[in-house]
Amino acid sequence: MNGIEQDSKMQTQLLPVNVDNIGTFMFEDPRKSFLGNWTLRLSVIGQDAANLCQAVKQLQTSNSPVAFPTETVYGLGADASRADAVAGIYRAKQRPADNPLIVHVSSLTQLRKLLMPSLDFPGKFANAIDQDPIPTIYHCLISRFWPGPLTILLPLPQPSPVAPAVTGSLSTFGVRMPSSRLALALIHLADVPVAAPSANASTKPSPTTAAHVLQDLSGRIEFIVDGGPCTVGVESTVVDGLTDPPVILRPGGVSIEMLRQCPGWEYVAVGYKDGIETSIPRAPGMKYKHYSPRARVILVQGLLSLGLVAQYIGSSARIGLAKTRTWRDENLAVPGKPSLQGSSSQSRLSEFAISRKEVIDLYKSCKGNPTTPSIEALGAEERSDMIQFLSADLGTDASSIAQNLFSVLRELDLREVDIIFVEAIDEAEGHAAAAIMNRLRKAAELQVQV
Ligand code: TXA
Ligand code: MG
Repeated sequence: MNGIEQDSKMQTQLLPVNVDNIGTFMFEDPRKSFLGNWTLRLSVIGQDAANLCQAVKQLQTSNSPVAFPTETVYGLGADASRADAVAGIYRAKQRPADNPLIVHVSSLTQLRKLLMPSLDFPGKFANAIDQDPIPTIYHCLISRFWPGPLTILLPLPQPSPVAPAVTGSLSTFGVRMPSSRLALALIHLADVPVAAPSANASTKPSPTTAAHVLQDLSGRIEFIVDGGPCTVGVESTVVDGLTDPPVILRPGGVSIEMLRQCPGWEYVAVGYKDGIETSIPRAPGMKYKHYSPRARVILVQGLLSLGLVAQYIGSSARIGLAKTRTWRDENLAVPGKPSLQGSSSQSRLSEFAISRKEVIDLYKSCKGNPTTPSIEALGAEERSDMIQFLSADLGTDASSIAQNLFSVLRELDLREVDIIFVEAIDEAEGHAAAAIMNRLRKAAELQVQV
């Protein structure tokens, strides 16, 4: 019996934790910054602290990874210093071994210990980040954006306290201090550096709720800490400040404009490539298929219309629409007909149907270059049926779109749509827009401009 078959017998248990009930965070710094020394006095009342402690114990003693929320997406964590525990992450996710993991820390002291494992300096650099093992180029970034959605690459010390599987064969390792208090509490209590990729099955959209993790990893891991939905919704920005000029390897929660405000980062180069990747990727994860629901994703720049849908629909019977700024369901109403048989269901999804014949008529009258089997080639029966539309609002501002993106892709997938049309936004508008468009391009099979 191989490891995967054994894993599939595992029961996956949700551990609900409301971070407000776990106890009291106590800070040395009067501004209550997590960059200074801090501790947590656990509550003895209620189940939240007990559930958290169960996850802590699992991180410290088991080789089965623990899923937990961060502010970006849910991570799948293991003690970064134990090779067997790290192997458990790759096994559960079915992740390629050459795609390195991000190490999560809960304090700068913990990071400095990773960089200078031979030194015993409890708290020595606790309140200042000058003249310390953390390279100067990162000091401004850390003081501005940590804890938060920013991952920095650091030189891997030799010998390294981080298990080789965390970094593959690379001479650097990626680190971030998350701002989620629940994630910080978990790492702090476990007192180990936590290697954690996003807690999705490899190639799937990243999970932003515990239910998403369960969809992908049920039976493959023992525990999921359920701390509710993630606030940012897209993964951290990954930067390499060890090169000149520094490079942004993955756009994320901290935008390029924000990075440029720091000394040494004014000319930060874009080291990721959107769309078809041609050059050798510098972040190994960039070369793999990503963020992909089962359905075909078509990314559309421009207005939604039935004519547009008709060009790509082929024999599909269920169509998902992920709307941002300008798309309206009314744009799909057939001329001369009262609007849609709209039925609003839960959450942000509404559902309606249009007959295939009407779509075919529009197809006949519309110009364009169909890339899927022609509707005209369909039999009479197929032509007379209805096409179901499931329409979802991603939101209008970039931060809402980021927060809802993976969740909407997953929900449409669960409802078994064949195609998802997604409304693009302008990636140059800043904030999370570049990260959103980067993820959408990777998820999309096709981009069209109308
Ligand atoms: O927001 C996040 O970053 C989430 C949460 C859980 O923290 N984590 C996450 O991990 O997105 P993952 O494994 O899905 O993505 C990590 C990315 C990959 O593209 C990987 O190739 C890159 O970071 N990376 C990690 N270490 C690296 C290194 N030493 N050099 C270059 N790229 C690295
Ligand atoms: Mg990932």
